[in-house]
Amino acid sequence: MNTDAELPPPLARWLRDPGTDDFPYPAVVSAFQRVGKERVAVALLTALSEARSRTSAHSPLARFLDVALDKHDGRYDYTSYLAIELFPAPADTVTDRVVTLLVADVLAFELAALDGADVPLPGLRPDRRTVGLRCRHGLRALARFVARTRGGPDIPEGEPVETARAVVTEVEKTRTPQETHLLRTTLLPVDTVHDEYLFLRVLQAFEMHFAISARHMATVPDLLDDGDARGAGAVLGDLADRFDETAHLFSLLATMQVEAFRTFRLHTEGASAIQSNNYKRLESLCRRPDPGRLESAAYASVPVVRDEVNEGRRTVDEALAALGSSSSAAARAELEGERRRFAAAYERWRRTHHRLAVRMLGDQPGSGYTAGVPYLAEARTVPVFET
Ligand code: HEM
Repeated sequence: MNTDAELPPPLARWLRDPGTDDFPYPAVVSAFQRVGKERVAVALLTALSEARSRTSAHSPLARFLDVALDKHDGRYDYTSYLAIELFPAPADTVTDRVVTLLVADVLAFELAALDGADVPLPGLRPDRRTVGLRCRHGLRALARFVARTRGGPDIPEGEPVETARAVVTEVEKTRTPQETHLLRTTLLPVDTVHDEYLFLRVLQAFEMHFAISARHMATVPDLLDDGDARGAGAVLGDLADRFDETAHLFSLLATMQVEAFRTFRLHTEGASAIQSNNYKRLESLCRRPDPGRLESAAYASVPVVRDEVNEGRRTVDEALAALGSSSSAAARAELEGERRRFAAAYERWRRTHHRLAVRMLGDQPGSGYTAGVPYLAEARTVPVFET
């Protein structure tokens, strides 16, 4: 580790007199992005630890510093790598807006690098063709999320790079200072490789998707217990659509250069989406996991969700089995159709994820301490619902 670097002057000033100035987030983030979290100077880490000790616990600044200091503290994991604690709680319009911002931010970064602007993460810049592909897939992903948000930009047809420029300008025009702050504080890469920007943003967008999906799925057992088969079917249908919409995020991420991924992942050991509470909450809300899976790394990595399951949280499967005859045959048929459509969309998600992991990872182990692709091959066979 580099120990002789100077502190960024705005941070040194803030430390001398924390009361007078706002915390210099831009200077700190920029110091992290310049070298990657793995190589941040000890002097800076020590100063940030000191800043944290003067900050009230759970304040926004303390939560940011927890993210920045995760490796230093020995707490680095999926949640801290993605800065999940800094994102707003899931809610329909908020989540779609945040995903829109995340994808637009990827495109803005790609375009700035393409134009030779002074942007961080200079390692292994992609060629123009790859940037064009990213713009194409990014615009498709945006179109789906924008369609859900009122007041989002139009996504016109046209040459992808120039269209992306117009769309990015449009999104940036409507971005609030709070949203700009959110984007700034949630991009602390471990390395200085260009494609890690894309990787982080796409993972964050997926995590937003899991969070809102788990939240909606949690309403389904209650709706069924109230005999509202039509309402339950509508939620499952919406979730099926949401899962299908994420296909464009996978296409965007599939443009990542294998060499770039293999470079920065040398420093991501211990951070894996196997630790995503929201993903496992969603899975275990559909159907109670078999004992073998509940006792495996799949749930050992999400102890909070494992406890929820062990405490007997009701599943969609259980509520379906207990569904009385109060709802009409037509409503039940609709429910069954949407349930199957959701299961198929979820299975497609797993298939695409597995394919991407084969391509990017090959026979390397996963960053979540599993064997990697063999773990995913087995996880793909887990039924979404009992029948
Ligand atoms: C380069 C791309 C990716 C690769 C190589 C990859 C690889 C893996 C591997 C090997 C695992 C097994 C656990 C481990 O040891 O880490 C895993 C689990 C998982 N990944 Fe990915 N992944 C990629 C992208 C993504 C993305 C974009 C998401 C979306 C958030 C995601 C979500 C998940 C989830 C939810 C699990 C847990 C699955 C389970 O426990 O059944 N992955 N991934």
